[in-house]
Amino acid sequence: MDPATGQPRDTWGSKAAFILAAAGSAIGLGNIWGFPTVAGQNGGAAFLLIYLAAVAFIGAPVMLAELIVGRKTGLNPVGAFKALAPRTAWVFVGGLGVLTGLAILSFYSVIAGWTLSYIFKSAIGTFGPEADTAAIFAEVAGNPIRAIGWHFAFMALTIYVVLGGVRDGIERWTKVLMPVLFVLLAALAVRAVTLSGAAEGLEFYFKPDFSKVNGSVVLAAIGQAFFSLSLGMGAMITYGSYVSKRDDLVSSAAWVTAFDTSIAILAGLIIFPTLFHAGLEPGVGGPGMVFVVLTSLLSSIPPAPWGGIVFGTGFFMLLGIAALTSSVSLLEVPTSWAVDERGWSRKRAALLLGAIAFLLGIPSALANGAVPWLTSLPGVGTDFLSFLFTLFGQYSLVIGALLISLFVGWVWGVQAAGEEVRENDGKFPLGRLWAFLIRFICPIAIMAILLNLVWGLFGA
Ligand code: TRP
Repeated sequence: MDPATGQPRDTWGSKAAFILAAAGSAIGLGNIWGFPTVAGQNGGAAFLLIYLAAVAFIGAPVMLAELIVGRKTGLNPVGAFKALAPRTAWVFVGGLGVLTGLAILSFYSVIAGWTLSYIFKSAIGTFGPEADTAAIFAEVAGNPIRAIGWHFAFMALTIYVVLGGVRDGIERWTKVLMPVLFVLLAALAVRAVTLSGAAEGLEFYFKPDFSKVNGSVVLAAIGQAFFSLSLGMGAMITYGSYVSKRDDLVSSAAWVTAFDTSIAILAGLIIFPTLFHAGLEPGVGGPGMVFVVLTSLLSSIPPAPWGGIVFGTGFFMLLGIAALTSSVSLLEVPTSWAVDERGWSRKRAALLLGAIAFLLGIPSALANGAVPWLTSLPGVGTDFLSFLFTLFGQYSLVIGALLISLFVGWVWGVQAAGEEVRENDGKFPLGRLWAFLIRFICPIAIMAILLNLVWGLFGA
């Protein structure tokens, strides 16, 4: 029941609609902007292999665990923990998720705002062959009024979709747009791998050099897997809460994971050949890298200048849309919390929480050149946006996922979780493997990584 309207809680229209919406949440800037950046910084191919292992053995089981908790309780993360473990501290895991959602949304919207501005820049042919794409990026991200303005515009779009609710808002948008994104990315990948110098990029991406692997590379891979799959803060608990008891959770989790991972791999296939073609180093250039590199690839598509204009505009529109279907899930978590737990109307919740995320995002919008001390935080060394990303987009998600796997594996229990999975047809394919992964592999791997990190911090 929705306490504000007295209506029954919304559900997805079909299993396919749910898979697309969850894939829409997962697929976003994390895949196209984040994955190639992190992979580039961590050695390319070796990172890719560790990432795939992290997705299969840690990400996928946590995804299923979140969906199970969501469908079982039919509630937001705070409500879900309250329902399954009344009067315990577990509710704080849900609370941390709600907070983390707002924090991630705040800087996510800033980056997505750059994407919006690039739609218009591409359309008017800004990225011709002579354009200095690095200078253009510096101008877009470094101008305070523009950066805040586009951040505002993107947040307004996010609020608009969330106001529409689950079926008429989120579902309606993702169903059409995700397939188009896939086709366009595939076309760009074909273009990228046929560039001169592409072979070097492919070698970097597919030929592992394990001497580059250490604890922080593994942490980066696991962190990237959680961020990319939208795990660790209850987004999949929330989306799972709108799944009908007739639908199958195991295959849904598998589809979402597979879609998300293929898009990330595809993005690498676009970025690395292009980087090497342009004679640039992977892993340098920070948050602007993808914007700088992609625009030069896009603008090289013949016939000049129309190929560049058409593909550039199309690409940034789709990237903006991919970001929108993700940011919507970030706002949906605190919104569903306010609706379920505080009795707010959806309208009030989405507007107020979206406004908070907008305000929180302002320092991030000023952190790429507009304000010097935010661009290079004293004592931290990185910019404010990257700092928030590390704190909430990495640590908070990793800790959240650890607690979720401990909760489902040991507290609420794999037995009870299994019963929820079997609700639809009595079956739980790979149920034993999942139970083993969620009880042992996920918590141990995550804890080992956290310890390794603390160890490193104190130089012991
Ligand atoms: N997964 C999205 C991306 O790759 C971002 C995102 C949306 C997210 N919802 C989330 C990340 C929840 C962590 C948690 O761009």
